[in-house]
Order: sequence, then C-alpha cells, then structure tokens
Amino acid sequence: MPINKLSSIFESFFKKGILSEPNNTQVSGLTVDVHAHILPQIDDGPEDTEQSIGILKEMYAMGYRKVIATPHVMTGYYDNSSEDILQSLQVLRSVLKRRQIEIELEAAAEYYLEDELFRLIERKEVLTFGGSKKYLLFEASFVTKASYILEASLRIKQAGYTPVLAHPERYVNINDMEIISRLASSGVLFQLNIGSLVGYYSKHAQALAELLIKNKLVAFLGSDCHNLAQLESIKQAFSLKTFRDAMQLDILNNSLIEKKTSVFA
Ligand SMILES: [Fe+2]
Repeated sequence: MPINKLSSIFESFFKKGILSEPNNTQVSGLTVDVHAHILPQIDDGPEDTEQSIGILKEMYAMGYRKVIATPHVMTGYYDNSSEDILQSLQVLRSVLKRRQIEIELEAAAEYYLEDELFRLIERKEVLTFGGSKKYLLFEASFVTKASYILEASLRIKQAGYTPVLAHPERYVNINDMEIISRLASSGVLFQLNIGSLVGYYSKHAQALAELLIKNKLVAFLGSDCHNLAQLESIKQAFSLKTFRDAMQLDILNNSLIEKKTSVFA
C-alpha cells in the first residue's frame, strides 16, 4: 500500500478518535508491556470494557504496540482460572478488532506466591509469556521474607519455568545488595515497575529501583497499570535519566513482540 494512502488511513483514525495522536515527549521506545491489569472485571483493574479500551488507546499513544495482560491470581481474592483469563482476553481482543485499535493483546497472569501456585504448576495450568522461555510472573506479600521468595524461585525454576518477580523494589525485606544478589543468582528475573522511578509507591521502592538499574539487574519493565490515571506516572518516568539508563540495559520487553504467549505449559 502506498505510504500516502497508509498515512491518510491513520489520519482518519485519529480524526475519528480511534487512536490518540502520539505525543513524542511521552513515547519511550518501549513497545511491549509485560505487567498490566487491563482485562475488565477480573481483578482490581478496569471496571468495564470501556475503561480497558481507554487505557489501551492511551498506551498505544505512549508507544506500546503489545500489552500482556496479567490479572491477579490469588486464592480467596482473585480466583481467576486460566480459562477465565483467556476467555476475557478473547472478548477484549474482539472489541479491539471491531474498533480497529491495532494494539496486540495477550495474557498471562500475576500469580500470588502461595501453595496454590505450586498446585497450578504441578497441574501445568499456569499462564506464562515469552513462548518457550515460559516467563512466570509472580508477586508475594510485601512483607514476605526474602528467603521465601528465594526458595519459591528455585522451585519455579526446577519445574521448568523462568521465574519473574514482579516489582522486587516494593518488598520491604529486599533491601540490600546481598539479598538482591542472592535472589539474582538463583535465576529469578526482576520486573521493575516504571512508576517506582518517580516515587509512585514509596521512597524505598524508588531507591531500590535505582539500585537495581545501577547494578544492571532489571530484565523487564512493567506498567503494572490498573487504571488510566496511573499512566501519568509512567509518562513522567519516561523523561527521567534513570528510565533511560534502564532502557540501556538488556531489557527483554521489546524482544517479545513476535513471541507467542498465553500458553498452557
Ligand atoms: Fe500487578
């Protein structure tokens, strides 16, 4: 298709409000998000499809071209089965297609560290991303002992998955380089929340995030987005030196654009 025809198609999308005009000051070079609460009515993310679409349109404007939805899975709070998640994914995908919003959407989950996670692993019922890499995103209580996270990471790895710890900077007991190094050498990958760089969560999280970047220990960057307002802190972070430093590391996000996710493995 000739370029001028293609650009006029995009112009008509912008005029119709299907896509937002990209604002170059807010585009980061990050094209894939690996941690987003974007599926509606499944966790503490969007309350309906319109909210989901609003967030995704804004993420598109920020330069994202693929979002991996990672709803919470936590017994008693977010009892989401893999089938529930994949069904919700299909519904939202069909809305995106109908409205001609060309952002790729896939799904995994953010598993809470609890016994049920290991039962799901045993039954091969976990959702991962990164195709054969089988990245398994998990979180723990913010006051969990680092030794419990370490032990869990080893178990996840032994089961054939690549453990990815969500927002390591937010745990109160992950607080010095000795602990961080022990975790890193166990094979767990760290997924930093972009909002931590502007102090969105706490001063502790901001300081730890900076320490992780300085020591080149960040594998993934995530929005951990739950709502449209949260994207403001991500946009602010895009202009920080610490964010640019993080982007200079071997961040794996953009390598996932062609990879398959949503696998039962
Ligand atoms: Fe999250």
